[in-house]
Amino acid sequence: MNFLILGVSGSPVPNSNTDRLVKCVLENAVQKSEFVKLSQLDIQPCRACLACARTNTCTGIEDDWRVLAPKVVKAQALVIGGWMPFGILDSRTKAFLERTFSFRHSILLNAGKVGAAIVTGTVNPDPVADDIVEYFKGEGIRPMGRIVASGIDPCWSCGLGDECVQGTPVPMVRSGYRPMRYPYADRLPSADEFRITPDIVPPGVENQEGVIEDARRLGKLISTTLKRDEEARTVLLENLLSGVTSKNPIEMLLALTEKSHLFGWILNEHEPAKLLSNLKRAEAHMERDEKGEAVQELLMFAREVLYRTGISIRENGSALLVQEARKAIADLYEGS
Ligand SMILES: Cc1cc2nc3c(=O)[nH]c(=O)nc-3n(C[C@H](O)[C@H](O)[C@H](O)COP(=O)(O)O)c2cc1C
Repeated sequence: MNFLILGVSGSPVPNSNTDRLVKCVLENAVQKSEFVKLSQLDIQPCRACLACARTNTCTGIEDDWRVLAPKVVKAQALVIGGWMPFGILDSRTKAFLERTFSFRHSILLNAGKVGAAIVTGTVNPDPVADDIVEYFKGEGIRPMGRIVASGIDPCWSCGLGDECVQGTPVPMVRSGYRPMRYPYADRLPSADEFRITPDIVPPGVENQEGVIEDARRLGKLISTTLKRDEEARTVLLENLLSGVTSKNPIEMLLALTEKSHLFGWILNEHEPAKLLSNLKRAEAHMERDEKGEAVQELLMFAREVLYRTGISIRENGSALLVQEARKAIADLYEGS
């Protein structure tokens, strides 16, 4: 699972326009990426059972989310590609977004990542793309941009096209509206003579004006942002961990806590008590030689400390910092 960017597409059509746009963004970033076609997995909608509340893990549904969830958590960039049946976001992409509810309880596991929204539709995907961008903001994910383009509208190829007044082509010609970025407006015959011929069928995203350029630009922007995050994270980690040499995880965490003030950790009245109780429970577990439980308490503590630290440095990738610290602490504890 050695990747930084995760791209998902909700289109069920093989190698669809949405797929190709998501892949184009991924290919234009230098970091390793993975593409997931949601229709090849069983990802059910959220059941609102709240089983995830304490653990930030969805345990209420037996499906492929168990495979996908760790990939989402690990990714530093999410490229989300949806399409729009009936003018709204498709159900697979929506189910995917719903299931990330499990990542937003005591800590926003997606905070600090970057995100990009891709939506294909025949007309006006902007509101749907806006919804995905709003989703990003709610998760603490920095939106890097969005691309809207036209996908394959089934009404051009279903066989009824120029006879069916319900479908897209005939009303399109009559009313003058066009699919997204439609390049052949000057070839369209009058409504009376209208027949679907290959030269007027909307082309794939590769032949729509500016779409691929937009996708390439977005991929490059994600890439440079991740690189900048990585540099910032290195500096922050060096600062946080410098001088923290103790082999005792509790001492190390206390030292980390002290240092976190450097980065503007703002305590309210309740937080120190809450954090201290984590530490006390960890100590008690250690006295009873319950290492697993002690580590869990320590990780909760570290997560809180570093998340709060990260609030002021979210722009620089606090989620990465949390992951690094978690690993460092777990390694240290294993080695002690
Ligand atoms: C069942 C269905 C309903 C659709 N409804 C709409 C719609 O309301 N508005 C729209 O702009 N496009 C609509 N479309 C067109 C899709 O948005 C288009 O097929 C999609 O962008 C395809 O992307 P793809 O090529 O990646 O599969 C519909 C397509 C299907 C199959």
